[in-house]
Amino acid sequence: MDSDSHFETLAIRAGTTRSSFAEHSEAMYLTSSFVFASSADAAEHFKPGAPGFVYSRFSNPGVTMFQDRLAALEGASACVATASGMAAIFATCLALLKSGDHVVCSRSVFGATTQLFDSVLARFGIRTTYVEPTELAHWEAACEPATRLFFLETPSNPLGDVIDLAGLKAISSARDIVLVVDNCLLTPALQRPLALGADVVIHSATKFIDGQGRVLGGAVLGSSEFIDKLVVPVLRTTGPSLSAFNAWVLLKGLETLSVRMERHCNSALELALWLESHPRIKRVYYPGLPSHPQYELAKRQQARAGALLSFEVLAEDGQEQSRAWQVIDACQMISITGNLGDTRSTITHPATTTHGRLTDAQRAEAGIRPGLVRLSVGLEHVEDLKADLARGLQ
Ligand SMILES: Cc1ncc(COP(=O)(O)O)c(C=O)c1O
Repeated sequence: MDSDSHFETLAIRAGTTRSSFAEHSEAMYLTSSFVFASSADAAEHFKPGAPGFVYSRFSNPGVTMFQDRLAALEGASACVATASGMAAIFATCLALLKSGDHVVCSRSVFGATTQLFDSVLARFGIRTTYVEPTELAHWEAACEPATRLFFLETPSNPLGDVIDLAGLKAISSARDIVLVVDNCLLTPALQRPLALGADVVIHSATKFIDGQGRVLGGAVLGSSEFIDKLVVPVLRTTGPSLSAFNAWVLLKGLETLSVRMERHCNSALELALWLESHPRIKRVYYPGLPSHPQYELAKRQQARAGALLSFEVLAEDGQEQSRAWQVIDACQMISITGNLGDTRSTITHPATTTHGRLTDAQRAEAGIRPGLVRLSVGLEHVEDLKADLARGLQ
C-alpha cells in the first residue's frame, strides 16, 4: 500500500500480509516454530537477516505485521516489538550502553524506568543523572564525556511537563548522544518524536495502543541500522519478545487509535476546563490549558494535549492527602487503578501509589504533592465523568 497514505489508513492497512487462505482480517499465528521444506531450506532460513520465519522468540508473522504497522505510523524505518514497555526500555539500554557509560534522564519519568537506571543498570557500572526536564540548560550542564543517552517522556506523567525536543536534539547531536523518547502517553496519533529530532522512540503498547486494558506489549523504533543491528540481537538472545496473541490484539488496537485518541482528548480538555473553574480545585495540570507553563510549546509539538490530567484539591494545611483520597474514594464509576490509557477512566493518588517508593524529598522535587490526583480520561460520556468526580468535590 501507498506509504504516503493518511494516518487513519495506515493504522488499518499498513503491514498487513495474508496467508494462503486469503483471510480479510489479520490471522493470529499461535506457533512457536516454523517448518522447512528441506535441510537446505532450513539452513537458508537460519542465516542472519534471511527472510521468512524460524522461531517465534524472534520472528512471527503477526508480530511482524504489528511492527511494520507501528513503524509506518511513527515514520520509523524499523520497529521491534517487545513483551512490555519496560522490556523495550531495557533492550534499548542494553543495545546502547556499557559499563562506564552515563545517562541523563528527565526526573519526570515512569517509576520503573527510574528503578531500572538506579537499581539494575547501576549494578553494571552505568550512572544516571536526573534533570529538571523543561530546563534545556540542565540537560547541557549534566553532560559528561561518558554521556551516551538522553531519556525522557513528553508530556510527562503525571504533571504533563512538555519538553522541547528540537532544543534537546541540538544539545544531544552536538555530543553524539542518543535521544530516546518514550511516546506512550500521546502515541503517534498525536506526536511523532522522530520527526521532531528523537533518534529512538519507545512505546508501552500496554497503554493507548491496546487502549482497552487487555494485554502487555512494547516497541522500540528508529533507524534500521539501530534496530536491526543493535536491538534485535539483544532481544533475540535475551527473550522478552511480544507474544503472537498480544501482537494480534495490538494490531486491532492500532486500527481504532486515531478515533479513540480524538475522543480521549476532547473529554480530557472538557474535564480540565471544568475542573479549573471548580471552586474546590486548587490547580489543574493539563498541557491543553492556557494556564499550563508549556501550553505554547505543546501547541507546536503535539497535535492534541492527550488524555492524562492531574489536579490538586483545595485543602487545609496537612489535610491535602485526605482530601485527595476523599475525591478518589467517592468515585463510583471511575476505576481506582494505577494503569492508564484505557477506555475506562482511571484515577490514582500518585504520592502513595505510582510515586510511593520515592523519598519525601524526591517527591517534593518532582512536584508530586500530597493533594495531587491523576486522571486518565477514558471513553465514557464526559457528563458521567463529571458527575462521578463531583461527588467527592462537594
Ligand atoms: C510512560 C510509561 N513508560 C513505560 C511504561 C512501562 O510499560 P509496561 O507496563 O508495558 O512495561 C509505563 C507503564 O505504566 C509508562 O507509563
